[in-house]
Amino acid sequence: MKKIVIALDGYSSCGKSTTAKLVAAALGYAYIDTGAMYRAVTLYFLQHHISLTNPKEINEALKNIEVEFHYNPKTKRNEVFLNGLNVEDEIRKMYISNQVSEVSVVPEVRHAMVAQQQKMGKKRGVVMDGRDIGTAVFPDAEVKIFMTADVDTRAKRRQEELLEKKQLINLDEIRENLLKRDLIDSTRKESPLRQAEDAALLDTSHMTIDEQVDFVLERVTSAMINE
Ligand code: DC
Repeated sequence: MKKIVIALDGYSSCGKSTTAKLVAAALGYAYIDTGAMYRAVTLYFLQHHISLTNPKEINEALKNIEVEFHYNPKTKRNEVFLNGLNVEDEIRKMYISNQVSEVSVVPEVRHAMVAQQQKMGKKRGVVMDGRDIGTAVFPDAEVKIFMTADVDTRAKRRQEELLEKKQLINLDEIRENLLKRDLIDSTRKESPLRQAEDAALLDTSHMTIDEQVDFVLERVTSAMINE
């Protein structure tokens, strides 16, 4: 059967990655969390004190950054490596969430990440989640979903995720962070977060994970039938 690209875009913490992982597992596809790539770049920039207003410094830094995903059989998940080091837990921390949107605005960063994502999905058979997959990375994706949910639901879900990682963060702080990131992500010049014209809208505010996965899989089936 022909392999396709499934693009899951949308606002922060509306269930994109959980849905994407399950869809990828159901189809035997690779799952690529593009947000993790921007988070890893942010970690590197913070560690090396890279100035976001100095394109030369940024380009030099990007040459020294290698972001990869490796499957960990112990945790049964794809984990993110920055220059050979596992940074999966570090990049989910609040100090990275607080900086990542500013780093993601930088055109040089976007060009480097988009090129790498296109390479990763070249053979198709991928589920990619992010902000600009259906509009900039794979405008020809066979299935495009744009996910959203009300901000309180998203903040609560995010708080639970962080608690599982033993980080207790106040709900207001999380809410502020989500709203701030949504604003920066959707108003930046270069490939802003927006619903592609041919993307199906999925509001997950009142949906279970199984319902979200079914919604995507139904579209995958129709895309394959129409091939
Ligand atoms: O999916 P996430 O919340 O881990 O993403 C973190 C940030 O990375 C998000 O606020 C904006 C940026 N991002 C982006 O600009 N483009 C993408 N394709 C994915 C994420």
